[in-house]
Amino acid sequence: MKPRTPVARISATARYLPERVMTNADLEQMVDTSDTWIRERTGIRERRIASRDTGAAEMGTRAACAALQKAGLSARDIDLIIVSTATPDRMLPTTSCEIQAAIGASRRCFAYDLQAACTGFLYAVTMAEGQIAAGRAETVLIVSTEKMSTIIDWDDRATCILFGDGAGAAVVQPSTNGEGILSSYHRSDGNLAELITRPAGGARTPLTADRLRRREHMLQMAGPEVFKAAVRAMSKASIRALKDAGLETGDIDLLVPHQANARIIEATARYARVPMDRVFMNLDRYGNISSATIPVGLDEAREEGRIGPGSHVLMTAFGAGLTWGAMTMRM
Ligand code: UT7
Repeated sequence: MKPRTPVARISATARYLPERVMTNADLEQMVDTSDTWIRERTGIRERRIASRDTGAAEMGTRAACAALQKAGLSARDIDLIIVSTATPDRMLPTTSCEIQAAIGASRRCFAYDLQAACTGFLYAVTMAEGQIAAGRAETVLIVSTEKMSTIIDWDDRATCILFGDGAGAAVVQPSTNGEGILSSYHRSDGNLAELITRPAGGARTPLTADRLRRREHMLQMAGPEVFKAAVRAMSKASIRALKDAGLETGDIDLLVPHQANARIIEATARYARVPMDRVFMNLDRYGNISSATIPVGLDEAREEGRIGPGSHVLMTAFGAGLTWGAMTMRM
């Protein structure tokens, strides 16, 4: 594929992380695990947990307001709001409409939720880019907000040690000087849907007392199978996104991958031939915040000066569905 002239860029990012920290030592009190096992097998030391009365919309609203402020925009400038979340506060209405109202965005804009699990942010950026290319929107607000603590079985040591809560936001606007999204590559495979599920609570399997007792409304994951699929998918997608952008690995200033497991990130970087000093990691502090990991990572990487104007950034993600993808951009 020929490298494209960018049509859209991420003009601002922001994040919101709840204050409460849950350490591996805290988890040792809850399930049969150890700080050593968690650190060695995942790289996670601690994660943030939102308070009982803080929902996905509230965390997303905080990140959204901060992103608008950084972009020098008002909520009334937004044409489209896309929210990626696997943990909406309610089944209806959408979290995006709740955030639209909370930030005071105009009724002129349209808002929808996008469900692509951990890959949600990258899918959302691509959807935003498409609306900008079609001339239907100039300013798109993307919010990835996840209260994973509400869908985790806190008695299941194989999953409860992995996840945390938080939100990231990004403003996407038309490119001006050749900066912006250079390539994006997305795939999904419903044949592997059973690897990560929340079996109960939907139309086919509504919640019943029995299903609640069996905790079928909680996240279930075949960890080792997901691990292998994640490495395969993210490394291939990264290589493909680089090729589509006409970039070499050496051109990449920073890889900002989905933060699920340090060993997954290291293996992906190895296959994609990105040295570890050019790989962003913050999962030691936040764990896996599903679709919020990449916007939170981008925001921290900007703040730490690891990326700035002119930098080439590679992002890659993977999640339930299965869904995955990679994207390159020039800042
Ligand atoms: O966001 C995208 C979706 N998620 C992911 O990408 C996660 C992908 N998977 C993973 O990160 C890893 O597979 C896990 C971290 C979930 C598990 O690590 P693993 O190295 O694949 O361990 P395992 O499941 O193969 O289990 C190895 C052993 C087992 O014990 P036995 O059978 O060898 O005696 C488990 O029971 O480790 C045991 N184990 C634990 N021990 C202490 C599993 N979880 C824990 C735990 N603490 N929390």
